[in-house]
Amino acid sequence: MNMDLYCVMGHPVQHSRSPWIHARFAELTGQHLHYGKRLIPLDNFAQSLREFMTDTTGTARGCNITVPFKFEAAALASRVSARAKLAGAANILSFTLQGIDADNTDGIGLVNDIQRNAGVALAGRDVLLIGAGGAAAGVLGPLIEARPARIAIANRTHHKALALAERHRALALLQDTELHTPYLKGLAGHFDVIINATASSLGGAGVPIPASALKPGALACDLMYGPAANSFMTWALEHGAVPRDGLGMLVEQAAEAFLIWRGVRPPSPQVLAELRAMME
Ligand code: ATR
Repeated sequence: MNMDLYCVMGHPVQHSRSPWIHARFAELTGQHLHYGKRLIPLDNFAQSLREFMTDTTGTARGCNITVPFKFEAAALASRVSARAKLAGAANILSFTLQGIDADNTDGIGLVNDIQRNAGVALAGRDVLLIGAGGAAAGVLGPLIEARPARIAIANRTHHKALALAERHRALALLQDTELHTPYLKGLAGHFDVIINATASSLGGAGVPIPASALKPGALACDLMYGPAANSFMTWALEHGAVPRDGLGMLVEQAAEAFLIWRGVRPPSPQVLAELRAMME
């Protein structure tokens, strides 16, 4: 039987958990597919994508895209979903008779993890999004669609937060969510949910906001997982918040991708629990 092929493309990609997650989804839903990983040279994304699409060991159906190719992936697709357009980036491509479809499941992955796995409803809440780079842009649209009362976007470089908010202004109006862009320095206000979409912990810079931003029992999410999320998680715990790393978002964005490709929703909470146990 001809095998349906999928993969994750990135640079670096060797530590990606996506092949394991998708293999487990396939096993649990009885789907027959192979999901691999491909390390792509930094200057060769388009050519590498063509090579995968014409792989003769099976039929290439789609791929996930990770750092740093998410922008390029959105740019070269023939059809781009509304949420990928807003994000300016794609984390999933599907190969169809019409061409290449690009979508972005990062944001809905985060929202599903917060609402379903962490059990925190976002509607009517005060949310703080720290950062205005690629990771923040990837999640803002679906966050707005969950209809919090307010989302404050605070970034070290203020004009980037302004630009990101501006791009999402129409959607926010439609969803009745207020968008604010306070300065990161001297940040005031208290939030129910704080999302760290900065790379600050990678540079060892610590958490760039005061602990007063956390309402008692607030949910404090880092989009990263593993050691990269540690300093933010420890900070949150020390100040009475509920810390959450990005592992749930990783599994949930994969679940949405699996649903797009295979038309079946995999049991993501089970796979998340297994992955967490494996990583401990
Ligand atoms: P990514 O794709 O991971 O979002 P990025 O687009 O380079 O990567 O964005 C990194 C984000 O982390 C930016 O919001 C960046 O702030 P600037 O726009 O001011 O560069 C933020 N960031 C990185 N180091 C930081 C630090 N030490 N303190 C605060 N924010 C930081």
